[in-house]
Amino acid sequence: MKRQIKNNVYWVGKTDWELEFFHGADYSIRHGSSQNAYLIQEEKTVVIDTVWKPHSTEFVDNLASVIELSSIDFLVANHGECDHSGALPALLEKIPGTPVYCTANGVKSLTGQYHHPEWNFQVVKTGDSVEIGNGKKLVFVEMRMLHWPDSMATYLTGDNILFSNDAFGQHYSVPELFNDKADQCVLWAEAIKYYANILNPFSPLVKKKIEEIQALKLPIDIIAPCHGAIWRENPLQIVEKYYEWSQGYQEDQITIAYDTMWDGTKQLAHGLAEEISGLSPATRVKIFNISKTDKNDLMTEVFKSKAIAVGSPTVCQDILSAVGGWLDFLKELKFQNKKAAVFGCYGWSGESTKVLRERLTHAGFSVVAPEIRCNWNPTGAEQEKVAAVAKTLVEAAG
Ligand code: FEO
Repeated sequence: MKRQIKNNVYWVGKTDWELEFFHGADYSIRHGSSQNAYLIQEEKTVVIDTVWKPHSTEFVDNLASVIELSSIDFLVANHGECDHSGALPALLEKIPGTPVYCTANGVKSLTGQYHHPEWNFQVVKTGDSVEIGNGKKLVFVEMRMLHWPDSMATYLTGDNILFSNDAFGQHYSVPELFNDKADQCVLWAEAIKYYANILNPFSPLVKKKIEEIQALKLPIDIIAPCHGAIWRENPLQIVEKYYEWSQGYQEDQITIAYDTMWDGTKQLAHGLAEEISGLSPATRVKIFNISKTDKNDLMTEVFKSKAIAVGSPTVCQDILSAVGGWLDFLKELKFQNKKAAVFGCYGWSGESTKVLRERLTHAGFSVVAPEIRCNWNPTGAEQEKVAAVAKTLVEAAG
């Protein structure tokens, strides 16, 4: 089975409706996902990327059902991470010696994972190209750190297709393959979740790379990523979104994230939300219990926020473990241009706000001075602190 993308370009990937997690358990999948691989049949026959190892037999068998494997002239490995390279060992076992085009870092990645230094690697860099007949060629563009050191994109002239690998993807199964056939709400929710949780740490590089690609003035009719919908209707809309998202993106939203032992800190969270809404009715205020919320969904909300407030009670001079783990992930994602406030209840020593302040500062947030540090359960006496934190946070976030 091969599905036409345009002219002699076909999709030969894997749609996985049952996938629940990605990157170990670090990324939740809600609407299935796909590993998109592509077959080009011009005078030369080319396969761009493969699929994850568990699907490698299915992938190779399928490919063999649509072409003679021996007719493949070369392979392109845009990225070595195993969701795209996992079927290379099985495929190259059938067609040993077939050239594999990839970056210098791609060689390190593929050799490190599969231990086949004898593979016929053809190292390419930005601007290198290879003729594939019928007046068309493939042009390679390094996409270093988008999102790995080896990442690259491949551009097909004539058909004007950019095979962008991970960039511009989403973890979303679209049976009809294309963005214009997708549920638009799900598509954009998955696209922003993907950006916030995977690409956000590399935002300065995303901006630079988009400017570099725009300067090449390549006509782009289709953007074919390695996950999710293929952008054929107004393909540049996702590039424009990435450009916007890469520059300290924020909406008029404040997100409150907390965990609680006996509901005291939860009461503070809700009191703070009410106060912020009263002060700034136009602001979208959202509250999440960290231990009961999907961490990727919560990070997407942080990505959209101009400010956050984080709460935890004190436990053994520290914070609750769910909040601690979440803050590790928060730091990893390198959010820019965001304000924060801290709050929490305590019974005796009360270090949680100090710990939260330090951790959030370390994660790159600008933490406002007022805080809500509440001994035992909140009473009306805390209202002054709640009001001070809400006012300072709203003002600081602008
Ligand atoms: Fe979809 Fe970086 O692998």
